[in-house]
Amino acid sequence: MDNKELVERAKLARKLSYSPYSKFAVGAALLCNDGSVYLGANIENSSYPLSMCAERNAIYNAMLNGKGKNDFVALAIVANTPDICAPCGACRQVISELMPKDAKVIMANLNDSIKAVTVDELLPFAFSSEDLN
Ligand code: THU
Repeated sequence: MDNKELVERAKLARKLSYSPYSKFAVGAALLCNDGSVYLGANIENSSYPLSMCAERNAIYNAMLNGKGKNDFVALAIVANTPDICAPCGACRQVISELMPKDAKVIMANLNDSIKAVTVDELLPFAFSSEDLN
């Protein structure tokens, strides 16, 4: 599956967003090495900090379906932004821990702007479990 196809899947996921507070719908699609794709969308709450981002929901969705770090190949993110939609800092930290360093993060918008970077490029100098030793 190429980058554009994965973004199309993220656009479908975006339709599942529950974002009545921000009115900013985000979709994500996580490609695994067996070709399976797990979707995520942002799910908000009236207690605002309880909201969860699309990217993290996609990763957690995959993990709860038995997939793990070594299965993950690429994560696409899409929103209705003027340029590409980039993951927030919290998501970068989670992506950095739960996806391989060389996996792709494909950032896009609804107008076919698209940019792909590696997990390592998305969060250089990441804090990790190794820092706890
Ligand atoms: N959001 C995401 O889902 N992913 C991001 O990387 C940026 C922000 C969501 C969180 C909240 O529901 C809405 O977008 C506005 O911040």
